Amino acid sequence: MRSLRHLLGFHAAGLALALSAQAADVNGVWRMDEHKNSGATLHNYIVLRQHGEHVEGSVLENSSWEIPALDARLEGDDIVFHTEGDWNFRVRPEGANLRVLITYGGGGSDEALAVPVPASEMAAPARLDPPTLRELPYNGLAKTPPMGWNSWNHFAERVDDRVVRETADAMVSSGMAAAGYVYVNIDDTWEAGRDAQGNIVPNRKFPDMKALADYVHSKGLKLGIYSSPGPVTCGGYEGTYGHEEQDARTYAAWGIDYLKYDWCSAGRIYHNADLRAIYQRMGDALGRSGRDIVFSLCEYGMGDVWTWAPKVSGNLWRTTGDIEDNWKSMSKIGFNQGHLAPFAGPGHWNDPDMLEVGNGGMSADEYRTHFSLWSMLAAPLMAGNDLRSMSAGTRDILANRDVIAIDQDALGREAVRAFEDGGVEVWTRPLADGALAVGIFNRNADEKQAGFPWARIGLAAAPTTVRDLWRHADVAPDASLCTCVVAGHGVVLLRVK
Ligand code: GLA
Repeated sequence: MRSLRHLLGFHAAGLALALSAQAADVNGVWRMDEHKNSGATLHNYIVLRQHGEHVEGSVLENSSWEIPALDARLEGDDIVFHTEGDWNFRVRPEGANLRVLITYGGGGSDEALAVPVPASEMAAPARLDPPTLRELPYNGLAKTPPMGWNSWNHFAERVDDRVVRETADAMVSSGMAAAGYVYVNIDDTWEAGRDAQGNIVPNRKFPDMKALADYVHSKGLKLGIYSSPGPVTCGGYEGTYGHEEQDARTYAAWGIDYLKYDWCSAGRIYHNADLRAIYQRMGDALGRSGRDIVFSLCEYGMGDVWTWAPKVSGNLWRTTGDIEDNWKSMSKIGFNQGHLAPFAGPGHWNDPDMLEVGNGGMSADEYRTHFSLWSMLAAPLMAGNDLRSMSAGTRDILANRDVIAIDQDALGREAVRAFEDGGVEVWTRPLADGALAVGIFNRNADEKQAGFPWARIGLAAAPTTVRDLWRHADVAPDASLCTCVVAGHGVVLLRVK
């Protein structure tokens, strides 16, 4: 969801801290500035309250997320605490300021100077009353799960106009566009602020959003953008708070086709009970914008979003926190989606987050599992890698048309787990032509010999045709379902009829 390390961008080198030994008052609010190559200066705050030996506090990351300081205590002259995500803070007075050293559980460290500021500076703006709930109409979009690319997983704040143009080029030249990928989506860090009329203005990384949209459209593709219902995005950039109608009109004027709308700092102002109303406000504004704009809700699975997202004209909604490019994160998300299957269907989809295929943190078998599982789940297929330099192996996974056909099946029924046996999970998904997609997933690190009666997935007899979607070959139907060896963390994906 958030990576202080990623977003702080402090220099990891030179950690020698010359800490002066002096007792000083650390109570109050302290700000750490961060100058980004986008021209933005972002703010992170530390709040500390000390009563004798007792210390407590919190960290407001990117002016967006307030997270508690856990186990805060004095250690000599230092105050030490940690936060979720295994970030370990060591704070020490240095003149009128605080010297802050952060070490990360996963390795690495950062150092920064925090200056005292009045508490009012980090206060959230006044709450605007949420609109009265009503049911918005379906916008007619995303009849099958949206397919495209999003900048966040690979580029984070390094996304700019050039990356987006080159990605559009690569989407076409790699064959991905022909395989069905269409949205080229800019995630967080494109925003500068607002002009005198309150219009949202991109920062220097995006000199002309309309021209960029024209370019992407000239390739036969569509352009997506990102914002938050809060005053700032998760990365600390300008949000949409109080400018919903105006921003929707701006997006339409630029030629934007897709909006990912990320809760972030709205959580400082509203409660989970307000989620639906706040997303409705933007769904309504998009509906009146005069342009077809896919509405992607990003709220990390909070507030039982799947029960109401279609009523705010939502086309997809995040069901989990942020994915990471490793087996543990991907498999934990992917194999825990089955209970949400009843909520997916044409026009409205569960979103277990964007793809990590090709980003380097998983094996080829694990990436095939990732892509197969997301396709079985009727998930949006948003590539999250660098399309400009991907290997042929990565492209062959992302552009596997047999697997994409499962994801994009017109029936729109999401897979459920049929059974689990010794760490092998078999998931099935009914398809529009009466066929069944069957995924045999091996969650064990070692390869497994599989072989199950067809009855275990509800078939009375062996099917007449069986296609192996990774070998791209029809295989002779066997007396049992997949008499096969499944690689460790691997998959055999079949289409049977
Ligand atoms: C949140 C979202 C991510 C990404 C970042 C950008 O963490 O869940 O997908 O958009 O914000 O700051």
